[in-house]
Amino acid sequence: DKELFFSSELLGWYRKVRRDLPWRRSRNPYHIWVSEIMLQQTRVDTVIPYFARFVERFPTLIDLADAPEEDVLKHWEGLGYYSRARNLQAAVREVAASYGGEVPADKESVSGLKGVGPYTAGAILSIAFNQPEPAVDGNVMRVLSRFFCLEEDIAKPATRVRMEALAKRLIPEGAASDFNQALMELGALVCTPKSPGCLTCPVMEHCEGRMAGRENELPIKTKA
Ligand code: ADE
Repeated sequence: DKELFFSSELLGWYRKVRRDLPWRRSRNPYHIWVSEIMLQQTRVDTVIPYFARFVERFPTLIDLADAPEEDVLKHWEGLGYYSRARNLQAAVREVAASYGGEVPADKESVSGLKGVGPYTAGAILSIAFNQPEPAVDGNVMRVLSRFFCLEEDIAKPATRVRMEALAKRLIPEGAASDFNQALMELGALVCTPKSPGCLTCPVMEHCEGRMAGRENELPIKTKA
């Protein structure tokens, strides 16, 4: 069916074209976590050198937990949104204190960490631990809205909840890490906000939004 087509084509496409990004060379949950926090409000190309310097200076979670805050902020300089860095350090200190320095691999614990919302929790659990948890951000909601021609307002929390249920259902058995990154990659490289690259899209053939000629109107989002 349509969902099976989407999942298998997207996964196959990603395994062919995936970009070799520094955090993709690692399954270290702490490194994945750092990358996801940096990528929240910052573009991939900008993040690459910051990520490299950051994990070079703070190679382990304990190194980050033990570092002076000003040193951490220094390595964040230019990325902006410094509360991300402060929350990250507070959270790794919590992991050091309460979880023996190992990033917890269960949803409740990881979601309870400072600065870790549903998206980041899903990204860590799926990318680092290959757990079948959805990681739904704005890019993923755009891809799903278009492919399934969903007209629900993505600004509404209830829409995100439905998208998470859909995204979880779509994860192929045993392939959560690659599949969630494939969704992100499609949103970043092909199914872009403006002028999506439908002609190079691996799932265009069954894209409901495209078939309705509505790819440029989706997703629907009321408030900015
Ligand atoms: N954006 C958010 N997470 C990402 C990831 N793991 N790879 C590339 N872009 C991303």
